[in-house]
Amino acid sequence: MSDNGTFEPVIVGFLCNWCSYRAADLAGTSRMGYPATLRDIRIMCTGRLDPTFVLRALQKGADAVLIMGCHPGQCHYQEGNYKAIRRFALLRRTLRQMGIDDARVQLHWASAAEGVQFAQTVARVTEEIKALGPLDWPHNWPNEDPYALQEANS
Ligand code: FES
Repeated sequence: MSDNGTFEPVIVGFLCNWCSYRAADLAGTSRMGYPATLRDIRIMCTGRLDPTFVLRALQKGADAVLIMGCHPGQCHYQEGNYKAIRRFALLRRTLRQMGIDDARVQLHWASAAEGVQFAQTVARVTEEIKALGPLDWPHNWPNEDPYALQEANS
């Protein structure tokens, strides 16, 4: 919550170093305005994103997770984002079964030159999450620790 009591979501952003992280930089250096709701985490490629990172972020209090990387066909590791697409589909199915709205975990693309698109995506996702309200997973799922469950099963 902000100081005036309005809900300001916490969105964890997993950003590919080569494209989306640079798009975020461009948005910043170009002084494009967008909501300060994103907590950036730089990863080398969306293909590096382990789905448990997403579960962990939600379990630790994020209201949403935004995954952003190079456009399909432009991954610096050839196929990383194609792997991310496949993993994302499985992750989304799992999250649906847990009652998590699709809007709370999103996958988008932004090249290093797409600072405007980056800023617009963050603004749009922020509005969607504001409309949904807080996830508050630790409170709503007091006995559910997906990360612990995953560790116990491995
Ligand atoms: Fe950017 Fe793979 S290097 S998604």
